[in-house]
Amino acid sequence: MTIPLVVGNWKMNGGLAACADLAHATADLLSRQNSRAMVALAPPFTALGSVKNILIASDIKLAAQNCHWEESGAFTGEISAPMLRDIGCHFVIVGHSERRHQLYESDDMIARKLMAALKHDLRPILCIGETLSQRHRNETLKVIGAQLDAALKGLAKGAIDKLEIAYEPVWAIGTGQNATAEQIDQVHNSIREYLKNNFGSSAGESVRVLYGGSVKPDNASMLARIATVNGLLVGGASLNAESFVKIVASFSPTVN
Ligand code: PGA
Repeated sequence: MTIPLVVGNWKMNGGLAACADLAHATADLLSRQNSRAMVALAPPFTALGSVKNILIASDIKLAAQNCHWEESGAFTGEISAPMLRDIGCHFVIVGHSERRHQLYESDDMIARKLMAALKHDLRPILCIGETLSQRHRNETLKVIGAQLDAALKGLAKGAIDKLEIAYEPVWAIGTGQNATAEQIDQVHNSIREYLKNNFGSSAGESVRVLYGGSVKPDNASMLARIATVNGLLVGGASLNAESFVKIVASFSPTVN
């Protein structure tokens, strides 16, 4: 059975001291918590090295929030996948909606980032999700399918279980309005169906499909109980160690 994954995406928050405090507090509380979930933390680039040193004694994995598709070169301000591997990252978030919408990352850029991550032994967490107007126009499943097509088009069949997928409806991110169990289940089922149709039935079963968008301690148990949810991508609530650890604990050691 798939081990659920809970990822804390700290976004552009925290200097070195604040990130160190949060990493210490999260690791400390998690060590006293029972959960069957694997946990990863994605601090800002500047804190990856120091947070890595704090997490070294724990099972918590290090994640980056983005990477470039090239290995090195004249790309001012960018960080490459081998650099992330070098600093100790295990995961990298790719295609987050804040990057798609505010920094105009295209499907093509996201596909290239995903391939670069895989090439350098990083597990990409591919984010996909519809905007509110796309949902209102009943285009959710079409949008999800197109995002998957674009990101996974170059992927060899055998490589599909080397990544995670996070369904994050754009309208649910940072808004306090999470998707309902029915909405999540419908999209997660369609992602699963897509994976089976394009990568074979066993591959389609092993890939984790996470949910993200206003995950909080008070909705985490409901989300963790949805059979098609294999983990959570947590933004705002991961900036508070107690809230984040409560969310992790919603995946109790025995299946809910
Ligand atoms: P949120 O962010 O939990 O603050 O809604 C989720 C995300 O952007 O991954």
